[in-house]
Order: sequence, then C-alpha cells, then structure tokens
Amino acid sequence: MQDLAGKHLVLGLTGGIACYKSAELCRLFVKAGATVQVVMTEAAEQFITPVTMQALSGRTVYTSQWDTREPNNMPHINLSREADAIVLAPCSADFIARLVQGRSDDLLSLMCLARPMDRIPLLIAPAMNREMWAHPATQRNLMQVSADGATVLGVGSGWQACGETGDGRMLEPAQLLEDITAFFQPKLLAGQKVLVTAGPTFEALDPIRGITNHSSGKMGFAIARAAREAGAEVTLVAGPVHLPTPRGVTRVDVLSAQDMFEATTRAAQGASIFVATAAVADWRPATHSDQKIKKDGSGKTPVLDFVENADILLTVAKSERAQAKKLFCVGFAAESENLVEHAKAKRERKGIPLLVGNIGPLTFGQDDNALLLVDAQGVRELPRASKLTLARELMTEIAARLPDWSV
Ligand code: CTP
Repeated sequence: MQDLAGKHLVLGLTGGIACYKSAELCRLFVKAGATVQVVMTEAAEQFITPVTMQALSGRTVYTSQWDTREPNNMPHINLSREADAIVLAPCSADFIARLVQGRSDDLLSLMCLARPMDRIPLLIAPAMNREMWAHPATQRNLMQVSADGATVLGVGSGWQACGETGDGRMLEPAQLLEDITAFFQPKLLAGQKVLVTAGPTFEALDPIRGITNHSSGKMGFAIARAAREAGAEVTLVAGPVHLPTPRGVTRVDVLSAQDMFEATTRAAQGASIFVATAAVADWRPATHSDQKIKKDGSGKTPVLDFVENADILLTVAKSERAQAKKLFCVGFAAESENLVEHAKAKRERKGIPLLVGNIGPLTFGQDDNALLLVDAQGVRELPRASKLTLARELMTEIAARLPDWSV
C-alpha cells in the first residue's frame, strides 16, 4: 500500500550498527510511495556507505554542511524545508545528547536545529546498547528532546550486536514504517478508548477437535490498527488467528465464544467505542468430552447437540454504558445474500447506531473488501479497497457520528 504517497522524508543516519537496518527502512519508505533524502553523519559512514543509501533512495546522499551542490551552500535549510518530516534512524545516544544541547557542528544536527518546528516534525528511532539506554543521562535527554517537540518512536528489546540482551535495539524497519505511517494519520479518535473483537471462535468438542469458521481476523486487526493510528487507546480481543498485533494495541487472546464474551464485556466497561468484527460461533456443543471421542467400531456416528452462545454485541449494546450513550457500538454483518435487507434488520435487532455489512464468502481471508454502512439515516457504500483503507474510512465515519447519534 502506498501509505506514504506524496510524502517527502529526510532520513538521517547517525553512528550505530543499526545503520544496516536503515537500508531496508529506506526501501520500505520508497515502496510506500515516499521520496527520501538521506543525510548521514560522519559516524554513520563508518557503518554503511552513502552509495548503498543513494542506490536505495534514488538520490545523492548529503553528508556535509559544506556540500557545494546547493547553489546557496545551505543544504541544512534547503533540504529541511522540503521535508514532511525528518526521521533519525538510527539515532545514537550521542546524537540525542547533541539535539538536547542544540549543537550544530555537522549537517544533520544543524538541519534538526534549523528546521521550522511547527511545520516539520522530528521523529527519533533510538538505537544503542542496553546500559547506554538505561543510563539516567540518556533517559533525561530523551525526556528533554520530547519536551522540545521531537517524537521518540521507542526501542525494541532483545539480542544486541554487542552480545548483551535488553532494551535499546532500534525498532525493526517494518515497525518503524507502521509508526511513521500512523504518525501522519489524522488523530480523529484522540482520547477515545476503542474495543475491537476479531477473528473466529473455536468451540471445543473434545481435546482434539472443535468447530470454527473461516474468519481470518484481518478486518478486525485492520480496524484495531486504524483506531490506534487515529489516536485511540485500543484493546483487541482476538480469537485464534496467526496475525501480528498492530503496533501500540493491547491484545487479549481468547478461544471460545464464552471466553470472548467474558474478555469483551470486562473491557467494555472502560471503552467509548466498541467494534464487533468477530465471527462468533452462534452455537457451542452442548457437551464437552474431557477425552478424545473414539469410534466404537459399530459404525454409528456421534450425535451432536448444541446450545446457543450469548450474543456479545447485543449484551454490550444493552449495557448501561451504551444506553447512557457513553459507548458507541458498531456491529458487522457477514451475510451470504440480501445484504441491505439483512443489515438493516440486524442493526435494529441489535439496537446499535451503526452496522457494517459485507458478504462473508467474498471477504473471509481476503486482503480487500467492500462495506455497506447502515445507520438510522440510511445506507452508504464504501467501495472495494484494502481492509486497512476501509478501516481508516470507517474510523472517519465513526468519528463524524460521535457527537450526535441515534439507534
Ligand atoms: N456477534 C456477537 N456475538 C455473537 C454473535 C454475533 O458479538 N454471539 C456480533 C458479531 O461480531 C457481529 C454481529 O454480532 O458484529 C453480527 O454477527 P452475525 O453472525 O452476522 O449475525 P448474528 O447476530 O449471529 O445473526 P445471523 O447469524 O442469524 O445472521
């Protein structure tokens, strides 16, 4: 997806072994549609060559404030004024300290100091040894650099090039891309607490077997990501799916519809928006065998009896919080036919302000989808697009309805 189309980024590299990851980061930025101007400190050049970064960005790299290519000899002004953001990745402990002090004796620090702060955000991806990261001087500097208007993207944890294990690794390029993409999204849901259910449920018959469905969880995960990008605090209650947790989202894994019911109704007590995308099993086996159900040789097949699972969305929509209009509930309807009719009826039956309809067999497992929004005013189509694009559009639709809605 061209999430960064039209964006121009200055990618600043400072001295650290994580520079090898900046090559991949640059490639991901370009793939996401951004144009990238790489600027490197002298120390960064010890770890990776400007030739590599030039080839990946498609632009010559700047390393010195004395670069004569700029007619006015002011690369620190010219390069920063064109940028939508300056991204420092990796940003060393030393470079953070230099930012705090407002030093400007090399091109990159000079550019950071000379950038118009109200227009050109500075995003920092620190990278250093765990002791350097934990040192009070670094932590003090990070607080100061944030107070001075920079956005610190955080660090990863794990094995470090020095052989030690702990916090301080640079985030992986894909994680940085996700965070930087999120940074540019409008913060339409700032201050909101969004709860999302996603994926299928698994209703066990015995310790080996169970009943589930084709839901991949992709739509729900995209919604959790989009809500987070829009500035909300997000909890994602996920059935059994193998999808990575979107950055910054709190995930609660569950298996059965009953587990999902408990986790969701608990989390709903503090939520302000609830989006139910999970394909919850309507029924569960009436009995659960502690041991595997065996063939007895008679050729007789087991007779299964079912009981109905509680409707999570209905329960949350009827809660005091939702009835007091402190919780905006959004349902999904996976239908196989007559989408408009079924979606309208389902919205009324569930007593919710917004229902999103889609054709189940056309969306399960796919990366794209088409949605139908049904509210008290009528019906609106969101044409086929990637699930993340649709999720972002849905966040805009929800934000627009929050000030005033009816069931
Ligand atoms: N849902 C839920 N708990 C259930 C069943 C459904 O929270 N036990 C939610 C789904 O997450 C979805 C909405 O209700 O947001 C509609 O789900 P769907 O399966 O399409 O509809 P049902 O209410 O189960 O009705 P039917 O199966 O008859 O179409």
